[in-house]
Order: sequence, then structure tokens, then C-alpha cells
Amino acid sequence: MAAAEQGVDAARKEEEEEEEQVVNPWEVSAGKGGIDYDKLVDQFGCQRIDDALVGRIARLTGRPPHCFLRRGLFFAHRDLNELLDLYEKGEKFYLYTGRGPSSEALHLGHLIPFMFTKYLQEAFKVPLVIQLTDDEKFLWKNLTIQESKRLARENAKDIIACGFDIERTFIFSDFSFVGGAFYENMMQVARCVTMNKAIGIFGFNLEDHIGKVSFPPVQAVPSFPSSFPHLFAGKDQLRCLIPCAVDQDPYFRMTRDVAPRIGYQKPSLIESRFFPALQGENTKMSASDANSAIYVTDSAKEIKTKVNKYAFSGGQDSIELHRKLGANLDVDVPIKYLNFFLEDDDELAHIKKEYKEGRMLTGEVKQRLIAVLSEIVARHQRARSQVTEEMVDAFMAVRPLPNMFG
Ligand code: TYM
Repeated sequence: MAAAEQGVDAARKEEEEEEEQVVNPWEVSAGKGGIDYDKLVDQFGCQRIDDALVGRIARLTGRPPHCFLRRGLFFAHRDLNELLDLYEKGEKFYLYTGRGPSSEALHLGHLIPFMFTKYLQEAFKVPLVIQLTDDEKFLWKNLTIQESKRLARENAKDIIACGFDIERTFIFSDFSFVGGAFYENMMQVARCVTMNKAIGIFGFNLEDHIGKVSFPPVQAVPSFPSSFPHLFAGKDQLRCLIPCAVDQDPYFRMTRDVAPRIGYQKPSLIESRFFPALQGENTKMSASDANSAIYVTDSAKEIKTKVNKYAFSGGQDSIELHRKLGANLDVDVPIKYLNFFLEDDDELAHIKKEYKEGRMLTGEVKQRLIAVLSEIVARHQRARSQVTEEMVDAFMAVRPLPNMFG
């Protein structure tokens, strides 16, 4: 083959590989090698979180950085340094995150941003708004309005079980809350986004119903304090920080693009990698595929079966070979899960070393993982069983939050 042809071939192959990686709010898939997060940072135009930034957060909050930060699991950001510059000068901010209530139970991946948000809320002592996009799930999934509202309330219980401070937290469902100043902001955003732009950012096509096209402003405007007059009246320039996984980035690229045009501050973001499916890193854990996910409702027995049966192993096929070659940690799902949930850095390092060098077997690593996950899930279930309907009403009441910055 001629050199030029080979060049074209290589470029085409690269293009195909690039095409294989899809990350948006509705689809996450990648080639065999898993999601290339470095490429995503460049493609989306966000910034990497480096050790200096992690150190800065530790200094400013006076507490050790969360293990999701220490281990690079929250790996990207937008304008976080600017937000911290202001914080250092005494200017507070608020947090905004959310959940699309498409299923009865959350899976472990969904817990990641909420666990991290709880840490941020405590560490920075700032208020938090949590959006439940029951309208989004009505539009995208085959759900009735009643059902998506019910799921929003059920999911709110799981979110409350993560331990948020009621004095600083407002949870709302779109079907119940959208109106007034929030709706005015939605219309301001909508007028700034052309069809061309929406198609470019979200990949809509002409067969999509117009409900989908009209949704993004709903997720955009909680980034603006004026959408919540009962919380932030007179604080129109208050900064907002959004913790989420990187799949939500398109919504906020759009938001940041529009914000200065309507006189608002751009929200800052802090974005995580995905907690992978049991089958491996080429996709995220998904609520709609029971065998890919561990749910917060799973029993210890279910966790054990799923991990043993489905968790993709980087170990070798036979014990002899494993002792000789050791495990490939880059593809090993139990190690990736422990990376998220085993808090003890020394134990994690020890397991990685022993497993990589073939002294520890897949079965042993899985056993440790089963113990760690069962404990987290049991703790969550205990906390959730304490959440009453009255508590949900209290978190979702449209009310001022006195001392939210105190
Ligand atoms: P949803 O319900 O798909 O996901 C809720 C949150 O969990 C994150 N997430 C994951 N994180 C790590 N690993 C995974 N496997 C994984 N799967 C999901 C999501 O990034 C999200 O942070 N449209 C949103 C709801 C929403 C929202 C927001 C999310 C409204 N406003 C502001 C974040 C920030 C949704 O359907 O999320």
C-alpha cells in the first residue's frame, strides 16, 4: 500500500475510534480500551484537576481532600480556580446538582456525585439546591407524569439518606417548582440557543419530539441564583458550583455559553469519571441494565452473586499463569470499584501490589470488594429507612434557609 494511502487509512481508523466514544447525558459508550478521559477533556474544553488544585481545596477547607479527589476520580473542572479565588476573599457560593428519576432505585454510580456534594457542602459550609428532573424522564422514558413524579419522591429519599444538612439544602422537582423567576430564566436561555447549536451540543435530530429540544433550559437555570428568589433574593451574582459526572457537561457548556449574554455569572463545574458497569470500563453503570449495576436496594446476597458472576476480572485464566503474570489492573473492575469505595489508602495500595504481582487472586479481591460494597449498601439502606414522608416534605418545602452561609 502506498504511504499516502496508509496515511489515509490510519486517519480513518483513528476517526472511527474517535467516533466510537460517545458521552452525552443519554448515552455513554466507548471502544474496548474504555473511555478516554484525556480525550474528553480536550473535546469538551474543560480543565484537568491537578495536585495543586487538590492541595488548594484541602488548604481552603482545612480538611483532607475527599478520596474521590485524592484519587483523581473527580478529574476535570471548569473555572474552579476562579470560584476559589473569590471564596478566599470571603465570597461564598452555592452548590447545584441533580438526578433524573428514571428508576425506583439508585445504583452505586448515582451515589458518587451525592457523596461528593455532601463533602463539599460540609467542607465549604454552603447551601445546595438539588434538581429532580421528573420532566426530563417523562420526555425521554416511557413514563407517565404521575410515575415520574412518584419516582422523584422515592429518589429524594435516597438522596436525603446521603446525609445532607436540611438547614442548607433545598430539593425540588421540576413538575412542582418550575414557574415564576425560574421560568423567566428558562425563556431567557431558550431565546439564546439556536436549533443549530442545540443539535451541535446534544445531537438532536429532526425525528426527536420538540419536548426534548425544549428541555435543556430547565437543567440550565438552577445555575443562576435568581431562579430561587426564596433563597437568593438580591444575590444575583452569587457563584454556583456544579458537581456531576462528565456526562452532564453538554448541559452546562450550553449554560456557560448563554450566561454572560443574559447578564449572569457562568457556573463552575467539578466533574467525575464514571463508576463503570460490572462488565468493564467501556460504559458507565446503567440503571436500565440490572446485570450491569449494583443498586442501593440490593441484598448482600445479590451483591455477592453480581460481583462474583459479572465483575470483569483482569486476572489470568489459570492460577499458575496468574501467579506468574499477575493481574492487569487497567481493566479489572473490582480494583476500579475499590478505588472508589475502599477508603483506606494503605490497604488499597497493598491490594493493588499483591494482585498485580500475582500473589493475590481475583477471588480474594472480589471477596474484599463484596465486603466493602455490602457495608456501604447496608449503611445506605439503614439511613433510607429512617427517611420519613415528613422529611421529604421538609427538604422540598419552598422556604428560606436561614444561616445557609453560616
Ligand atoms: P442522572 O439521574 O442520570 O444521574 C445523577 C447523577 O449521577 C451521575 N452519574 C454517575 N456518576 C458516576 N458514575 C456513573 N456510572 C454515573 N451515572 C450517573 C450523573 O452525572 C449525575 O450527576 N439530567 C440529570 C439530572 C440533573 C443534574 C443536574 C445532574 C439535573 N440537574 C445538575 C447533575 C447536575 C440526570 O438525569 O442525572
